[in-house]
Amino acid sequence: MNDLPSAKSGRNAIEVAIAAAKEAGQIILANFGAERQIRHKSKGNLVTDVDLLSEKFILELLQNEYPEFSMLSEESNSSATFADYSWIVDPLDGTNNYTFGIPFFCVNIALVKGEDILLGITYDPVRDELFHARKGHGAYLNDSPVQVAKGNSFEESLVGLDLGYSHERGMEMLQIVNRLWGQVHCLRIVGSSSLGLAYVACGRINLYFHRYLFPWDIASGILLVREAGGDVIDWQGEPASFRTVELIASNNQLAQEFLVRFAEEQA
Ligand code: IPD
Ligand code: CA
Ligand code: CA
Repeated sequence: MNDLPSAKSGRNAIEVAIAAAKEAGQIILANFGAERQIRHKSKGNLVTDVDLLSEKFILELLQNEYPEFSMLSEESNSSATFADYSWIVDPLDGTNNYTFGIPFFCVNIALVKGEDILLGITYDPVRDELFHARKGHGAYLNDSPVQVAKGNSFEESLVGLDLGYSHERGMEMLQIVNRLWGQVHCLRIVGSSSLGLAYVACGRINLYFHRYLFPWDIASGILLVREAGGDVIDWQGEPASFRTVELIASNNQLAQEFLVRFAEEQA
């Protein structure tokens, strides 16, 4: 990591981000199954005391190590301008799964500079699976390099999606699901958009799509999929950025075909 500033402790940025994600993951896991304090942010959109505990831990660690970097984190006021280095954090992705006792959730930390995503970490504490990517250096699951699935046939594809927190966008996605059903091998509502993207990166899911996302949901996953040889495009077919709201992630050919077959008429 010679091209990124070192942390105060002397560690490099990827070591710091991995340490933060793993330790936050242990906080989340230690509290899994216990009674939660829950607040409803909007319909279907929860925040628990553990989201906040995880966020506090991550932000303090990142702030101590890199006081000059700005931050965008889901449950906090943002200091990020994105003019220079900025951390983008989702302290617990999959809060509904977590709250209902479904063991499928993760922590996301990404480092961006301007529009460039430089590092992406998505950590699943239940399976101890660490997905990480550094721009230009490939994507990894724990220590093994990963690649997106190569298959180009919808009929043989497992397609993942999440409906998000916009009623209108959710309804539009259900219309696509109506048409997809019968044309694909099978469908999964994943419950964690960032694990959906990480699973595309490692070839477990052929294609993932969503129409109502935030930077903390996708900054890490976009880099993971691209570094795993895949494509992440927006609803107009342009390369997605961490500001993109609606995206399609897959290998290049399947992503383009999804756009033509299912997305263009809803653009
Ligand atoms: C949500 C999850 C969900 C997706 C939502 C996200 P949260 O994040 O990733 O799968 O459908 O759009 O906001 O609220 O659990 O961090
Ligand atoms: Ca999220
Ligand atoms: Ca979250």
